[in-house]
Amino acid sequence: MRASDLNPDWNFKKASEIASRSNVGEDFRLGFQTVNSIKEYFEGVSNLDKGLGIVFMGDYGRGKSTLGGAIHEIFLDHGKTSIMAQWARLCDKAYSFDGDEVNIELKNHIETVDMLIIDEVCSGQKRLSPFQQDKLSTLIRSRQAQRLATVVITNLDAETLQTGIGTAAYEGLLEYEPFVHLFVGETFRDRELRDFNGQPIEIKELVNKPLTPAKLVKPQEPPAVDWAPGDYLTKAKDFHK
Ligand SMILES: Nc1ncnc2c1ncn2[C@@H]1O[C@H](COP(=O)(O)OP(=O)(O)OP(=O)(O)O)[C@@H](O)[C@H]1O
Ligand SMILES: [Mg+2]
Repeated sequence: MRASDLNPDWNFKKASEIASRSNVGEDFRLGFQTVNSIKEYFEGVSNLDKGLGIVFMGDYGRGKSTLGGAIHEIFLDHGKTSIMAQWARLCDKAYSFDGDEVNIELKNHIETVDMLIIDEVCSGQKRLSPFQQDKLSTLIRSRQAQRLATVVITNLDAETLQTGIGTAAYEGLLEYEPFVHLFVGETFRDRELRDFNGQPIEIKELVNKPLTPAKLVKPQEPPAVDWAPGDYLTKAKDFHK
């Protein structure tokens, strides 16, 4: 896996596949158009004087992270550096006060990487703390000043974004004259838990249920990639070679 908080399903192929469905929502279709235009950006077609800034905001399970992952992939495919990470974790690792080397290295990376995709900003639709607002605004403003590309993904919307991330970060984003997409509608994420036979299960059925040998031998999906700053730092170093 080539990056931090990246679900293997969040990639360009999956995004194109969703975009080609006849019943794809307008939100995803337009979002995908922006992702596609990033290719033009690499071919020098687009003129992005202010740097590339993108905001994907709105409802849960509408494909925002999938599109974010597709952008991450495009950057890597063009030999650029890219990091996709959840804001809370990023903030924890890069701006915690223990001052160890990894954190300083991570902080430097997120400030200088060609593309930074910040996912789950204001997760749970909670407003950032003043500390986080300050860190986010400094990060966005410094990246915009250097014309480094940034994507912000959030469940907030046009009405709540400014309050949620703080005015300074909000204005920093506007400096990009960003592409902004609002995702609206029911989630596409599977809402039901299913057992190995594809039958819906409920959590109450699992209470005190012992692990059966059958479960141990059933083929499993590969585990989700676990995020560890060390992993991606090694990779990020490779990018700079
Ligand atoms: N427009 C769509 N049509 C069909 N399936 C979709 C669409 N958008 C997303 N999906 C599927 O829904 C699931 C959730 O997508 P994703 O994680 O990208 O959503 P999200 O907007 O980032 O959600 P959240 O806000 O909860 O993080 C994925 O399995 C994805 O493939
Ligand atoms: Mg998401």
